[in-house]
Amino acid sequence: MTEKNAKKEMEKLVKEIEYHNHLYNTLDKPEITDREYDKLFQRLLDLESEFPQFKSTNSPTEKVGGAVLDAFEKVNHKEPMLSLQNTYSAEEIIDFEKKIKKQLKTDEDLDFFCTPKYDGVAIELVYEKGQLVRAITRGDGSIGEDVTFNVKTIRSLPLKLKTKNPPKRLDIRGEILIYKDDFQAINEAQQEAGSSVFANPRNAAAGTLRQLDSKVAASRRLRIFCYAPGFHEGIDFESQQSFEKVLQDFALPTMKETKDLKKLKAKSLWSLSKRCQGSAEVIEYYEAIEKVRKELPFEIDGIVVKVNGFAEQEDLGFIARSPRWAFAAKFTPDQEQTRINDIQVQVGRTGALTPVAILEPVSVGGVTITHATLHNQNEIDRKDVRIGDTVNVHRAGDVIPEVIEVIKKKRPKNSKAFKIPDKCPSCGQKVVTIEDEAVKRCVNSLCPAVMKESLKHFVSRNAMNIDKLGSRLVERLYEEELITRFSDLYALTKESILELDRQGEKSSQNIIDSIDKSKKTELHRFIYALGIRFVGEQTARALADHYRSIDAFLAAKEEELLELRDVGPKVTQSIVSTLKQKSFHKEVQQLLKNGIDIKKIKARTKAASGPLSGLSFVVTGTLPLSRNEVHDQIRSAGGEVATSVSKKVNVLIAGEKAGSKMAKAEKLGLEIWDWAQFEKKVR
Ligand code: IVH
Repeated sequence: MTEKNAKKEMEKLVKEIEYHNHLYNTLDKPEITDREYDKLFQRLLDLESEFPQFKSTNSPTEKVGGAVLDAFEKVNHKEPMLSLQNTYSAEEIIDFEKKIKKQLKTDEDLDFFCTPKYDGVAIELVYEKGQLVRAITRGDGSIGEDVTFNVKTIRSLPLKLKTKNPPKRLDIRGEILIYKDDFQAINEAQQEAGSSVFANPRNAAAGTLRQLDSKVAASRRLRIFCYAPGFHEGIDFESQQSFEKVLQDFALPTMKETKDLKKLKAKSLWSLSKRCQGSAEVIEYYEAIEKVRKELPFEIDGIVVKVNGFAEQEDLGFIARSPRWAFAAKFTPDQEQTRINDIQVQVGRTGALTPVAILEPVSVGGVTITHATLHNQNEIDRKDVRIGDTVNVHRAGDVIPEVIEVIKKKRPKNSKAFKIPDKCPSCGQKVVTIEDEAVKRCVNSLCPAVMKESLKHFVSRNAMNIDKLGSRLVERLYEEELITRFSDLYALTKESILELDRQGEKSSQNIIDSIDKSKKTELHRFIYALGIRFVGEQTARALADHYRSIDAFLAAKEEELLELRDVGPKVTQSIVSTLKQKSFHKEVQQLLKNGIDIKKIKARTKAASGPLSGLSFVVTGTLPLSRNEVHDQIRSAGGEVATSVSKKVNVLIAGEKAGSKMAKAEKLGLEIWDWAQFEKKVR
């Protein structure tokens, strides 16, 4: 591979991974399977080790996950919440053990502690002197959201640890789940209320944790399993197994150990963990759990294997965002057979035409599937999918239904091949195929399908958040020509909504109130809502941070945009060409005229003055304080914190076991301080 190609591919991978991180971690709307994600991630890791000169200082391999949403208070994890490396087969499990053995310089079977891998939402519980004081979502791994009031509704979770001698502080990690039965009931209720349904129990759990009204959480019945310690003081553990025992003593919900794998039955649901000696036993465990998977009342997507001893764990340490002492072994996702009754084409907000298989309804892993994406024409051709075919479907990453393969033996004589039409199914205009892209696009900016989807985006939760205006209603308002552009929303009256059949007095008023409420907004939300191609939430935030007012943004220049960290050339082109359109400016002005009121962004606070002002720092290695505490100290002494070493950084603060960052800092000739030097400066 040439250097040029490597560089290009690495840049592309960074963007792609960031995009999927955001979908997965922040929006709970993944588009690809975990396996596909892992492949991308591994490819980037490989290229970065082969071509370190092109490794981006912002590479996703340096951090844990997505961004943090706004509504909840942000809280630092005292110790970061990490991810797990994934394996997918017996061979990979064996390889993983080999790798660990090599690091520990031992030939003996390793002592592992194995648990199911719960497919829910990770949470950190903070117990101070035995009292539950806080529950924090994983967020980006360093900073999460305070969702204590919702977590407190979990019936099985003790608000006070069952012990006379509570430790000073004990942070516990666990997974919040919704049972499959409860999930069905929640979705039925959602449907009845005309609200959107959740794709799976994991999304339902994530959505529930983010409810602002804890009564909703209480009614939805969250569950929890605890599985790992975070920061702790006044208590210590020798091993995962002894930690689990303490959890049980404290009355914290956790998975108990099974005596006999052969007897794993629905009855022993609560005894599914096991200590295993060596990979052979781990594989037995993996297979036994996979067998009972379907009987479980909650979803799991694999097992988690941890080196049992905490001393060994400490020796093994971490790599990038995952511990070396643990890994996940994932199951192949659930799949079922069904028939494709039809193939239809959906037109998205960006005009992309997506073929969708209309399926004979089938239940996969407890969820009824009626549609599955076929992605694009290449995929249809590659898999040779035809209308009438019997196919295997699965929920990708257990989320988006997808057609895996055609069962050719079952193909009926009258099966029909499918070609995505050259005309947009919504507006009839000829579609275009853009170079480098496998998709066909409708480029008619007035295409009704594109308009409807843009309006849905505009009102969506992370955009203008007009929560009482559901997708179906947006479509009807558009079809009735009550709204044809964003600004029309703010000219709607109760009477005009009442005219739509089935809209009652009260619900119409609620809709108007919800529209009114959305007028007071923030710049980044507004920019995001406008739906400029490639301007996702993160870019919108970067733009808002930089321009600080809508007028300044409307006057943005290409050179400026290119200099912003989160804005690449493709995004810049898209913004520049949008800003050239008179109609865009006119629409924004109309929105402002109709009452959009953007919160003022406070004047940039001058860098705090202090002994470290004007200097930028990276922290690495093990230090007496947590990473976040060191960062806080740097900031309050006037310094800036960066996450990766580059020429823009002045000082590396290096603790024990400082690794690659140290080497890089030395190479770049940065100043390197040890803890004592740092303390002297800030004292
Ligand atoms: S232990 C260093 N145990 O998997 C991470 N994690 O990919 C140690 N998860 O964010 C985590 N079940 O949400 C652990 N029995 C289990 C788990 C589990 C699910 C999740 C957890 C974490 C993710 C890592």
